[in-house]
This record gives sequence, structure tokens and C-alpha cells, in this order.
Amino acid sequence: MTTAILSALPEEQSSLVAHLAHSQRLMHAGRAFWLGDLHGRRVVLALSGIGKVAAATTATALIERFGVARIIFTGVAGGVGDGVNVGDVVVAQDYIQHDMDASPLFPRWEVPGYARSRMACDVGLSALLLEAAGACVSSAGSQFGLKPQALFTSQTPPHRAHHGLVASGDRFVCAAEEVQRMRSALEGAGHHVLAVEMEGAAVAQVCHDYGIPFAAARTISDRADDTAHVDFPLFVTTVASRYAEHMVLAFLQKL
Ligand code: ADE
Repeated sequence: MTTAILSALPEEQSSLVAHLAHSQRLMHAGRAFWLGDLHGRRVVLALSGIGKVAAATTATALIERFGVARIIFTGVAGGVGDGVNVGDVVVAQDYIQHDMDASPLFPRWEVPGYARSRMACDVGLSALLLEAAGACVSSAGSQFGLKPQALFTSQTPPHRAHHGLVASGDRFVCAAEEVQRMRSALEGAGHHVLAVEMEGAAVAQVCHDYGIPFAAARTISDRADDTAHVDFPLFVTTVASRYAEHMVLAFLQKL
């Protein structure tokens, strides 16, 4: 049984590749796939690519070409929910596409042909990922030797692992006013979004189509506001890759 570990960022993937036993690199659909064993589990590592279409192609390749039995996704996201702060982790309960709008033919956010706007993640895998994420955030500052800026000082609130709705769309959200608009529109329809990113909903939809269990954890790199583009690159290189590595290895041990 092969588990796919999908990373949004090269920095996340490279730390996992370093742990891979019996590794083999294969090219398919213009993408590199790393096969091997991680903590005694058969895995395929892949980069999602950026945006929903690239991520859907990668997920389809993982299923069709490599026959994976489940997909786990790690990456970063902008925090939009109250109390979802930089350095927290959001484990997705389900996904919505914030830029899906086929109205008036279909209700706003509904995915045409699916009679739903939200795609659920696998309950069992998500519970394991949430455990791994909780352990990771509670020991982040000390255990990983992270000393980044204001993130892990005694003044910052303790970092948390959240579980809830994540929104994906083909744009990097970096304006407080846009977040507010998006949030209130979605909340008006009963969708309380914790975080925003650019790929997860597409992978969730592909996994739904194939009946493949899927779970995702996103480390919060920014608040999707006017400083998001400044916070993002620094966070990716200093923190996100370490989080992903620790969460994935802890998750595989629990599997
Ligand atoms: N990934 C990380 N931060 C993001 C943001 N602000 N918008 C979209 N995707 C993101």
C-alpha cells in the first residue's frame, strides 16, 4: 500500500527526500516523483505545483500512474479565521473553492456536477494528522531549534493546531479588505473558513472522484493581509519545511 506525500513547496519535499530509503526518481507528466520507504512505509513524494489545475494533474498522476492508496498534503496557507495565527497549523476537515462561481446556473460555490460546495477529507487520516500537528506545534520552538524572529518568543501566544474548513483558489490573497469580503460572503452562506491556499480543494475533488482517502495540513505562513507577500518567503524557508518534515514523519509512525 503506497502513501502519497504531496508537498506544496520544494523546501518541504527536500527534507523528506533526505529521509527516503531505496529512493528512486521518476519523471511523469513533466513532474518528478520520488519513490522509496519512509519510516518503513512505501511512499511516493511529489510536488503539487501551484494552483488548482497543477495540483489536480499531480494528484491524478499519483493515483493513475503510481496507484497510491491515500494522499497526504502539506503546505502553507494564509490564516483567515479568528485566532488562526502565523505558526499555527490547520488540518483540513473539508475544502471549498472560494473562486468557484457558476451562478446563476448553480448556487455560488457549488461545484457543478457534484451537488455540493465542500469536499470532505478522510476522517481517520485527518485525526492522525491532527495528532501529529498538535505535537509539532507544541514543541516547535524548542524541539526543532527554531529561532525565527517574533514567531517563537515568550510574548507570542502558544501555537495551535486547528481543524476546520480550508478554502482554495487561484490567487495569492494579500489584502485585508479582500479577506474580509471573502470571509463575510462565505460566512453568510454558512462556510466558516479558517485558512486560504491555492491547491487543496482540487486534490480533494480528484480524491473524491477516485474514492481515495485524502488529508491535508497547512502551516499558517501569513494572515493573507497586506503584509502576506513579505511574511511568506521567510516563513517558508525557516519554519514551514521543518513543520512538514516533523508532521509527516510523526504521521507515518501513527499510520
Ligand atoms: N499560501 C500561503 N499564504 C497564502 C495566501 N495568503 N493566499 C493564498 N495562498 C497562500
